[in-house]
Amino acid sequence: MDGVGKVSLSFYRDKKVFVTGHTGFKGSWLCRALVLAGVNVTGYALAPETKPALFELLGLKNDMKSVIADIRDYKALLKSLKKSKPEIIFHMAAQPLVRESYKNPVYTYETNVMGTVNFLEACRYIPGARSIVNVTTDKVYENREMNRAFKEDEPLNGFDPYSNSKSCSELVTSSYRNSFYSAKGAVAVSTARSGNVIGGGDFAADRIIPDCVRALKAGKPVVVRNPGAVRPYQHVLDCISGYLLLAEKQYDAGLSGSYNFGPDKSDVVDNAALVELFLDAWGGGSRVHRHDNGPHEARFLRLDCSRAKKILGWKPRMKIGEAVGLTAEWSRAYLDKSGHAACVDRQINEYFGKGL
Ligand SMILES: NC(=O)c1ccc[n+]([C@@H]2O[C@H](COP(=O)([O-])OP(=O)(O)OC[C@H]3O[C@@H](n4cnc5c(N)ncnc54)[C@H](O)[C@@H]3O)[C@@H](O)[C@H]2O)c1
Repeated sequence: MDGVGKVSLSFYRDKKVFVTGHTGFKGSWLCRALVLAGVNVTGYALAPETKPALFELLGLKNDMKSVIADIRDYKALLKSLKKSKPEIIFHMAAQPLVRESYKNPVYTYETNVMGTVNFLEACRYIPGARSIVNVTTDKVYENREMNRAFKEDEPLNGFDPYSNSKSCSELVTSSYRNSFYSAKGAVAVSTARSGNVIGGGDFAADRIIPDCVRALKAGKPVVVRNPGAVRPYQHVLDCISGYLLLAEKQYDAGLSGSYNFGPDKSDVVDNAALVELFLDAWGGGSRVHRHDNGPHEARFLRLDCSRAKKILGWKPRMKIGEAVGLTAEWSRAYLDKSGHAACVDRQINEYFGKGL
């Protein structure tokens, strides 16, 4: 396989890793980075929900063990975890879309809350497990539009069913940590609250970069629904570097808790600016600002990441322009059919070439 061995995630090389949600956008990037580093990875998720899907474009099922099953199926999840005997486990399987959660709140809560319960319950029966990261979101906080960055100790109470289900996932994790994972030497369990992620290979509905690519492909203007909404956009590689560093650091040292992972303040932009940056990087195209009277979405969201910086030594490596540039580069390679899989490997190798 191209690029094997260049990714320097040396801590992971002799570990067994289990990833729920491996067929999704972030899961595909995380698993590809681990596979390129020669790591033994097992994934557990539904079949890819978009057509196309990055998981399939990368041919990932040939390079890792892929279990296609539902996170709501406790028995199947336990069986897969027991069979794979992982030491490090990332939980990313979720219904991750705000607008979809307004349409399907019950499914969203079942997947994101009971899915987390199933996951943490099953992990209790995996004796070799040492480090667990539950991926939630920047939207877990009670957002009173205060125009300042959230810290990890602030109240959790997401507004819409998606955000709120992730707040609940945080509370479930806290209870499991207090009740079952607090003894000395117990497995470390943390939650990771990352920003809005951009990068090549996201085909989800109602997300701004996929919307841009779809519009440009169709030769239409990009419709920006909430131009003034400010979000902590970050590249998927900056995001997964946070998850990987957290799982590594807590493997021996404990450090269980909650960690924000987002861009620096100077790189937090609104949707209008993000689309302008994308069109610049693309070298053409136009946009219109059109409110569509959609459901409530917060106007301002930013994360204070000083905890992850201080305790884990993590920091975002990309400025927003670079994050958008890499995303446009991949999208161009995909639309031109000019090596989108090699482009992912190159971007991963350049990012992780010297390690975390
Ligand atoms: N993309 C973002 O901007 C962003 C930001 C913050 C947090 N997150 C979180 O990161 C994680 C991954 O998000 P993504 O953007 O890759 O989403 P995605 O939709 O691309 O992937 C979701 C994954 O979860 C799996 N899944 C969904 N329902 C399932 C079920 N019932 N049983 C088993 N698997 C199921 C899917 O099969 C897929 O593998 C999610 O937990 C999401 O909430 C995403």
